[in-house]
Amino acid sequence: MSTDTYRTIDVSPIAGALGAEITGVELAHLTDTVVDEVRRAWLEHLVVFFRGQVLTPEQLLAFARRIGEPVEYPFVKGIDGFPYIIAVSKLPHETVNFGGIWHSDTVYLERPPMATMLLAREVPPFGGDTLYSNMYAAYEALSPGMQRLLDGLTAVNSSALADVSKTREDRIRDSGADAGREYVAEHPVVRTHPDTGRKALYVNVAHTARFTDMTEEESRPLLRYLFEHAVRPEFTCRFRWQVGSLALWDNRCAMHNPVNDYHGHTRTMHRITLAGDVPR
Ligand code: SIN
Repeated sequence: MSTDTYRTIDVSPIAGALGAEITGVELAHLTDTVVDEVRRAWLEHLVVFFRGQVLTPEQLLAFARRIGEPVEYPFVKGIDGFPYIIAVSKLPHETVNFGGIWHSDTVYLERPPMATMLLAREVPPFGGDTLYSNMYAAYEALSPGMQRLLDGLTAVNSSALADVSKTREDRIRDSGADAGREYVAEHPVVRTHPDTGRKALYVNVAHTARFTDMTEEESRPLLRYLFEHAVRPEFTCRFRWQVGSLALWDNRCAMHNPVNDYHGHTRTMHRITLAGDVPR
């Protein structure tokens, strides 16, 4: 990974597989050149992090609009006055954390979001880090035979698999959104990134139920292997949050998993997802 090709920002990788911290940027005041370089760093490193960003909801939304087109999350209503910003919280009495399982965001939609940004508003005194995994690396590490097999497959993704549904329950109750609906979408098991042209594995344990035209039982052994393979430690990075940290990740080639290790404390993030295309 190159770190010397940026003129207006400093980009420092935080791990070998993916993830870079960008410094020298105030997200509330961006020139077009800085936005272009942030976008380039994001495509190169899959997830980029900023520290110390003091942003009102209006400013967070304005930054999101420099990167893409905000879309609503189907299960949790936005914060007051901002339908595109949801609060991702875990409160001291709660035991389950929102999205606390390896996944890429809302793969059960026909057009899953290309990106997600998360701004830390309140963080626990310890824990609550987020893990990320590089799905290009996961695909590229497979044998040529397995790559050929997967290249021809599609999979069925659902919003209603039990393990992920329970990670949304507290937030759905708080926001009064409709929990009842199931979304289902079929997508390629290996997708080609529309901007980089690289292939990435595109199944995840939270949403992928089975391969198309196969039963869950038939699909399970290979899916289970892929879920474990995709999060091998050497494909991952881990980010420690502070208030004002902002992460921007690429859902087309990265998965994430917030660690649920801070019971009795509050963690609150503001999240915006950005429109994506139909995976191919
Ligand atoms: C999510 O969007 O899945 C939540 C990620 C996090 O809380 O770190």
